[in-house]
Amino acid sequence: MWDRKHLLDIECFSRGDFEGIFFMADGMVPISGIDKKKDRKRIYVANGDIMTVWFEPEYENSTRTSGSFEGAMMRLGGSCKKFNEKESSMSKGESVEDTARILSQHTDLIVDRHTDPKHVYRLAKAATVPVVNGGNGSYQHPTQTIQDFYTIRKRRGRVDGATIAIIGDMKNGRVVHSLCSGLLPFENVKVAGVHQEGYGLPKEFRPKFYESRQIDMSRLDKELADINPDIVYVTRPQTERGSAMQPYCVNANTMKCLRPDAMVMHALPRDSKSGPEIAYEVDADPRAAYFEQAAYGVPVRMAIISAIMDYDGKIRRASS
Ligand code: CP
Repeated sequence: MWDRKHLLDIECFSRGDFEGIFFMADGMVPISGIDKKKDRKRIYVANGDIMTVWFEPEYENSTRTSGSFEGAMMRLGGSCKKFNEKESSMSKGESVEDTARILSQHTDLIVDRHTDPKHVYRLAKAATVPVVNGGNGSYQHPTQTIQDFYTIRKRRGRVDGATIAIIGDMKNGRVVHSLCSGLLPFENVKVAGVHQEGYGLPKEFRPKFYESRQIDMSRLDKELADINPDIVYVTRPQTERGSAMQPYCVNANTMKCLRPDAMVMHALPRDSKSGPEIAYEVDADPRAAYFEQAAYGVPVRMAIISAIMDYDGKIRRASS
């Protein structure tokens, strides 16, 4: 069960923890500003609180995670400040731990993305404020998984019973690792990892319901037709971590192999050096869920921040 002190990996999340965040995120949607056609309700429960966004700009650039965390904090009425090692006294040799202690004096919450998977645990140990993992190297991306499950629940009504085909670099992709571990509390789930030789899921993230489908990626459409999934989760080859996978692309032909009620997900970005993993022609297909999935980043992270910062009571009072 999640202790709400920090959010470092997805294994701490019970079924009840997921449901609690989903329920809170439902309440955040009208406040989050993601529906531009509706007037946004305003609740400033984080007024005066500051979040530090520690994203390593050299190796771990971000559009969605950093932007949606910042947007989430600001929609709640709080403020954000960016931190990076090069522009701080860490460039003079100051340790991660001392830096965490000092940042805890200036701010109320730290979101961290770093190439070194251990970095976020070091921060959490030394900081006196909550620390959230925004992606730790090739290890995990827990808040992405919560957002992914929220999207599945919105579209399908539930995560239980889903057959999920995950395509791509199972070995190096942190999104896949969190996704597979995060599915453990759900019932009757099946996962097929579709990957080239050498890019299989590491044992530590391999649940009982996982099946490896090692293929030549040119066979992708046939493989998907055979799996007949409810959800196709496409991932990016992790070139920055040395991945040299054969290119693959979900296109209009692939969509013909999928069920009419399937959904196609991707944590994005989908544009790799070898081209997009989902062709732009798929965007207009009602089964394309990836932009909706990205939009839920704001209300889901508003819910995560509110849970960790204990804003729940204030929100209930403001809403009643
Ligand atoms: N989904 C995701 O983590 O995207 P960014 O790398 O842009 O944050």
